[in-house]
Amino acid sequence: MDTFVSELMAKMTLKEKIGQMNLLSVGADVTGPVLSEGVEEKIDNGQVGGLFNMYGPSAVRQLQQRVMEKSRLKIPMIFGYDVIHGHRTIFPIPLALSSSWDLNLIQRTAIAAASEASADGLNWVFSPMVDITRDPRWGRVMEGAGEDTYLGSQIARAMVVGYQGKEKMLGTDNVLACVKHFALYGAAEAGRDYNTVDMSRQRMYNEYLAPYKAAVDANVGSVMTSFNEVDGIPASGNKWLLTDLLRKQWGFKGFVATDYTAINEMVAHGVGDEKQVTALALNAGSEMDMVGELFSNHAEELVKSGQVPIKKIDEACRRILEAKHKLGLFADPFRYCNEERAITQILSSDKIALSKEAAVKSMVLLKNENNVLPLKASQKVAFIGPFIKDQGNQLGSWSGAGRSQDCVSLWQALETAGLAKQCTYAKGCNILDDQALIARLNRDGASLALDAKSPQEMIDQAVETVKNADIAVVVLGEPAAMSGEASSRTAIGLFDHQIALLQALKKTGKPIVLVLMNGRPLTLTWEDQNMDAILETWFGGLQAGPATVDVLFGHANPSAKLSMTFPRNVGQIPIHYNSKNTGRPFVENSKYKTQYLDASNTPLYPFGFGLSYAQFDYSNLALSSPTIKANQSLNVSATVSNTSKTDGIETVQLYIRDMVASVTRPVKELKGFQKILLKAGESKTVSFTLSPDDLRFYDSDLNFVAEPGDFQVFVGGNSRDTKEATFKLLAP
Ligand code: BGC
Repeated sequence: MDTFVSELMAKMTLKEKIGQMNLLSVGADVTGPVLSEGVEEKIDNGQVGGLFNMYGPSAVRQLQQRVMEKSRLKIPMIFGYDVIHGHRTIFPIPLALSSSWDLNLIQRTAIAAASEASADGLNWVFSPMVDITRDPRWGRVMEGAGEDTYLGSQIARAMVVGYQGKEKMLGTDNVLACVKHFALYGAAEAGRDYNTVDMSRQRMYNEYLAPYKAAVDANVGSVMTSFNEVDGIPASGNKWLLTDLLRKQWGFKGFVATDYTAINEMVAHGVGDEKQVTALALNAGSEMDMVGELFSNHAEELVKSGQVPIKKIDEACRRILEAKHKLGLFADPFRYCNEERAITQILSSDKIALSKEAAVKSMVLLKNENNVLPLKASQKVAFIGPFIKDQGNQLGSWSGAGRSQDCVSLWQALETAGLAKQCTYAKGCNILDDQALIARLNRDGASLALDAKSPQEMIDQAVETVKNADIAVVVLGEPAAMSGEASSRTAIGLFDHQIALLQALKKTGKPIVLVLMNGRPLTLTWEDQNMDAILETWFGGLQAGPATVDVLFGHANPSAKLSMTFPRNVGQIPIHYNSKNTGRPFVENSKYKTQYLDASNTPLYPFGFGLSYAQFDYSNLALSSPTIKANQSLNVSATVSNTSKTDGIETVQLYIRDMVASVTRPVKELKGFQKILLKAGESKTVSFTLSPDDLRFYDSDLNFVAEPGDFQVFVGGNSRDTKEATFKLLAP
């Protein structure tokens, strides 16, 4: 590869090298302003390295053919797309998948997405998104793995390997992955998208950077910069971030692409004019310019005037050519344009089955008073809610190639399962009833409408339907368009008109199961007090309907656990389990302690929480030794028993707390988890190994160290309810 790339680069003009660094958007599926014009002519002139937002083997073949026929050096282009939770077979949104805590499952979704995307002409996916998120107001929490560093890092690795495979040379059913958004995008102030990020190095190194690094360690082929600033400098122009940290400290070998027009946006950030920000980006280590075309417009002049060393261009061009080589594009530019594969791979039955499995394993049971769930075969069930016959919202945001006609709605699933006979239906309310908001979302591509019936008529009909049933299943939530990019909210509860429906149904005295479809943690304090059961199904993808039916009727037992805390109210945000103790930790009935006057400090549902139709009990927490020496491991074991009459899967979680250190440490940190199947009445001993690395953290000089002293160990089924033990790390 090295010789091949060197020989090719020796033939390239400066303009052609800069051409490789130009990424343009084509096609109708655009996520921002379209700045590119005359794409074909640019392709002919060797001024385009890659294209995105277009798929299909013949469409891709046509443009690849063009570069092979018309351009001087015939360098194939790469074709990218936002394949975020599946390509045509849409899986649950990433936040949902992360709730499965099932790395094998998540990896299988990435393998399936890679197989389908590569059969559809693509060879580069803008995934995984690994931004740690602690603010559910931010609409992009749906794209990531939630709030935890450890879980997020495991998932990042699983996805990169799933997309790219384990080999250096990618197979035809692999694609190049792109970890994003580097870095810290999930910490946008106030949860407002694109907002400022400001963070200490302590927090960065100990809490936010690990998932990106895990992707780099897993050999991710590309990194995408974020829109936000890091330490006052926008990420795409931040030399510390892109060169010192990413290249020098982490040894990243792939190429760095910017986010959509992120270099141009540095002008609005206020760090220079177009030419200055281009120089900043190049000198910092940005290597492929997404859509903005500033490299095309200014890089040549910047090199000639000495403002950017030619070395920067050579390095960038080499890394992009290396990626193309690894994808096998020099051997066969049409390697990913195989119509046969498109027919056999896209929406294949194994992928659809995986989509259903993933949806089942992503659903979190938040409440189940008196075991109202699962529903019984003898019950007459009233299904109420505007999502029940809806086929589109279950795709969730970032499902560009997904199609609503491939979705199976809840009602269709009831019919197919032969259960519709025992069920009745009323819509109950609109998904949204705020006309201005509907108009705004529809302007940006949603298709929300108001029902011809008045809100009161819909409620009355729903009340009648419930009165004639034994139990109500009410499906409510957010439209898909209210999470994802540029979809932040200041209130994250169910809409008032949806609560009005629940209040009216509550008066019937019938048990109510609330089924939620949404893209972020919601505030559910009233619902928790008033509903008999709550099942969080997120946006479950193509098979959300059948998966929900399986869980509701007990054909499947829920096993997912929250990967992000559910607050009681918006005022508690940011709220996450791994907080610091402070100098004034909370003490009941004591004034000068960290607390609110009007709400407790605790969340409604903590990180790691999720119920099952089975019940699990923890006992016998034991450590292999009360003390360990530096570089020794510790074995932690506990007995987990299924005390119910139902088989179930439990996710056993291991946390630690470093009691005394040179910098303050969180009150709990996840360090391991295991999913175990326990038959009714069965007990198992689960063991974990705490390795020396698990005890390390970045100290104030950013050295990764373990410091002697006392540690606590916690094992339990969520981050709140745990058994605990202590051990001491001895001085060397
Ligand atoms: C998003 C990225 C995405 C890119 C390309 C941007 O607006 O922030 O996550 O990959 O668009 O569609």
